[in-house]
Amino acid sequence: MPAPENRYSMFSHSLDRIASTAYFLGAIVPLIALAFVVERYVLPNIDESRIIMGIIALVVSIAVLSLGSFLALRQSTRKSQRQMETDNARLQSLLKASSSLSSATDDSDATAATARCAFSLIGEGGAFVMIRGGSEPSLQLAHLAGDEPEKLFEDLEEPLRELADLVLRQERPAIRGIAEEAEKLSAVAVPIPGEFEPLGVLVVARRAASDEFESAQVDSLTTLAGLASVALRHLDLQDCQRNFFTHVTDILVSTLDQHLGFHSGHANRVARLANRIGRELGLEERRLERLHFASLLHDVGMLKLGPSHHKNPKACQKHAELGFRMLNRIRLWRDIAPFVHHHHEWYDGSGYPMGIKGEAIPLESRIIGFCDAFDSMASPSSYKQPLSWDEALREVDDCTGTQFDPDVTRAFKVLVDHGAIDPSFLS
Ligand SMILES: [Fe+2]
Repeated sequence: MPAPENRYSMFSHSLDRIASTAYFLGAIVPLIALAFVVERYVLPNIDESRIIMGIIALVVSIAVLSLGSFLALRQSTRKSQRQMETDNARLQSLLKASSSLSSATDDSDATAATARCAFSLIGEGGAFVMIRGGSEPSLQLAHLAGDEPEKLFEDLEEPLRELADLVLRQERPAIRGIAEEAEKLSAVAVPIPGEFEPLGVLVVARRAASDEFESAQVDSLTTLAGLASVALRHLDLQDCQRNFFTHVTDILVSTLDQHLGFHSGHANRVARLANRIGRELGLEERRLERLHFASLLHDVGMLKLGPSHHKNPKACQKHAELGFRMLNRIRLWRDIAPFVHHHHEWYDGSGYPMGIKGEAIPLESRIIGFCDAFDSMASPSSYKQPLSWDEALREVDDCTGTQFDPDVTRAFKVLVDHGAIDPSFLS
């Protein structure tokens, strides 16, 4: 498939060919025919030279008018094409920015993508994203992009900040000319809207003879500021959710430790070990985050079992199913519920609650299952008499392929061999 610019070029040439052909068939051919008819049949029958000259002048006038109309039409078409190409380039930039903003993982990513896109929309000078600093009303420069934008910002910091403050107060775009000693610069600023008040200001400055930016450029920057606003608010919401779940998980884990009354700190150690093994196995950050929460909450179902059941292995087995049901009811934890459900399945299928085996057990559950068992057998805080480090490693070898996934234990052994996991890890 040709690149967009090639497609426009092909379209432009094709339109040019069509216009030229239409002009040739619609104007040149009839004119030649008219000239032929006049020369062959009309002029021989007219004696008066004045009339002959008049007819020739008429034909020539028609030819000139027709050519003029054609050239004007072609110029107008080319102008429209150029405008269309410019609009399309802006649209492409906005689409690209929208894609970058939707995949941004933090505010820094989002403001960087916004600055890059703002610069590409104007194509010269520099773009500056200024964000309100938390409770601070003043704007902080978050990101900049362009031709030597640091120098441009340094030279123009005061007028740019004045313009940004004005836009922040007025909550609408503003354009300002900035006269320097040697050259004239102009800047446009648009607010980045927030729920109740602007989150910041997007400013673009360039060297130009006129103060005026095209209205289409200001509209594009306003659209970009709107996209940035959505991305920043979405990231803020994600941050709030993460914060909420981190604290709720902490509360649940502490409650569980007190409820069980033994092997305190087990959930945190399992989460730490699972994270190391998950990384060694190449899990991406989003999966590692889910693995972390599932590791912390793997025994949350025990909260549903009274203390009288804790010494009854058969009754305790219900905690996997109970934990699954507890988490599955919470929409934002639903994706980790299966990991908790299957953390006591064995690789050979002899575990519980479903008795599934091998790859049918989610990898996260296989990791948690191993870490849970290893911590229980080797940690000094274990509710049983803990094995020594070497005994625990031998137990891992003995249970690989039956209880434990060989890929998981292999990753674990690599970490042990490299000293990334040692006995201090379990204290
Ligand atoms: Fe468990």
